[in-house]
Amino acid sequence: MKEGRSFFIETYGCEMNKSDSIDVALSLEEHGYKRASSIEEADLIILNTCSVREHAVERIIGRLGFFRSLSLKADGEIVIVLTGCVAQEQGRRLMELFPEIKVIAGTYHFLDIPRLIERYERSGIPVIADDMEEYFFSTYRGMRAEGHRAWVNIITGCSNYCSYCIVPYLRGKEISKSSSEVLREISELVQRGVVEITLLGHNVNAYGIDSGDISFVELLERINEIDGLRWIRFLTSHPRDFNPELVKRISRLPKVCRHFHLPLQSGSDRILALMNRKYTLSHFRSVVDAIREFMLDAAITTDIIVGFPAETEEDFEQTLKAVESIEFDDAFTYRYSKRPFTRAATFEDQVPSEVAAKRLTELISLQRAISLKKNLEEVGKHVTLLVERMSKKSSSEFLCRSEKNKVVVVPTKKPSGSFIEAKIVEISGNTLRGVELELKGGKKPSDVKPPGVVSCI
Ligand code: SAM
Ligand code: SF4
Ligand code: F3S
Repeated sequence: MKEGRSFFIETYGCEMNKSDSIDVALSLEEHGYKRASSIEEADLIILNTCSVREHAVERIIGRLGFFRSLSLKADGEIVIVLTGCVAQEQGRRLMELFPEIKVIAGTYHFLDIPRLIERYERSGIPVIADDMEEYFFSTYRGMRAEGHRAWVNIITGCSNYCSYCIVPYLRGKEISKSSSEVLREISELVQRGVVEITLLGHNVNAYGIDSGDISFVELLERINEIDGLRWIRFLTSHPRDFNPELVKRISRLPKVCRHFHLPLQSGSDRILALMNRKYTLSHFRSVVDAIREFMLDAAITTDIIVGFPAETEEDFEQTLKAVESIEFDDAFTYRYSKRPFTRAATFEDQVPSEVAAKRLTELISLQRAISLKKNLEEVGKHVTLLVERMSKKSSSEFLCRSEKNKVVVVPTKKPSGSFIEAKIVEISGNTLRGVELELKGGKKPSDVKPPGVVSCI
């Protein structure tokens, strides 16, 4: 490696990609690279990409055009590394269109990036690593801490093959990290001051099925016992792999935050079957009912796709009705996008884009009203909050997060990583605002007991 070189990583896509970027940064630092403070100053640009919808790919192509202009202006050579899902899907084609890309690192090769760059620099020949033969989990463990929070990949890949989704083709089949390694990683993170961890996987609750290791719920039970850890979150759960019994078991774990992200995708059983989701609306509701019964006042968020091939007005009405009656705290809503390799791309009856766009607008406006109602229900509540970072608008205010994953702006002098007790007092726009509560009996915020019970004042 040439001396003193700096890198900049731009990341698109899901939490898994963001987590992979943490490992890429650590591996580059291990090889002597420094973080650049801006993209313009970097000698090495890593573009970690997402291919889940066509629009996401178009954005990446736009960014490559911008990097070309940076390359033309630069004194020396800027090495561009394309990694992540677009690299896996069509890195070779993009390398032909953009010769500035010197390294393609597919989704099994994040950790190889420094070695691939060295290979390019030694030979001057662009390097491609996009096979999916053997997957290695990161071993950076405690070094992956980002302040008081950390993301821990417990399972990679997806074996579900939802008919619209490109992810299994780009990330491979499910592979679970060993439970001993997960527990060791979390213990090391906690020793470094992490108080909140988020377990990651495309299908996190399928943990252990591929390997025969302990199940997801058993893993949660063991993680719950780690001293010093306060909050446990997980993303994303597949509704098929949950049932009321499992929810009841999870509800007994006080460190598990009362927030479930449970993608519904459609409220029509006919469309769910065409999507190959392997559950019905009634199963989904049974899980939602169990969450609400056993996990006091839990938040539930979801993902929904509109305009899936053959979705009729009646199917869409069923989605609206489901959203109206379940009352999700929030929803990520998408217009169906036709993706290569997927079965749905071959379905006839693709819904015209203007029809899908209209449905999306209607769904968004319904969900906005519900999200506002759910947030209004938070006003007046006494909550435990984790202080995250200073607000951009005022140095005396901090963005804090509740167990239900709601951001609350609170004036406080407590540093990031502290737990505070607060009362939510108002909502302005869609932003919750709170005031810190003094704790009786001279308790410090760090003495606040782990969450689990919320009292309403
Ligand atoms: N594994 C998670 C699950 O099954 O719920 C979701 C992971 S996926 C990366 C995130 C979301 O993208 C999905 O829940 C789905 O709503 C959306 N998505 C995936 N493929 C899509 C497509 N072809 N068009 C539109 N949205 C899509
Ligand atoms: Fe895609 Fe379905 Fe796997 Fe989620 S569960 S990543 S939507 S194939
Ligand atoms: Fe996108 Fe790949 Fe994640 S397609 S959503 S970055 S797994």
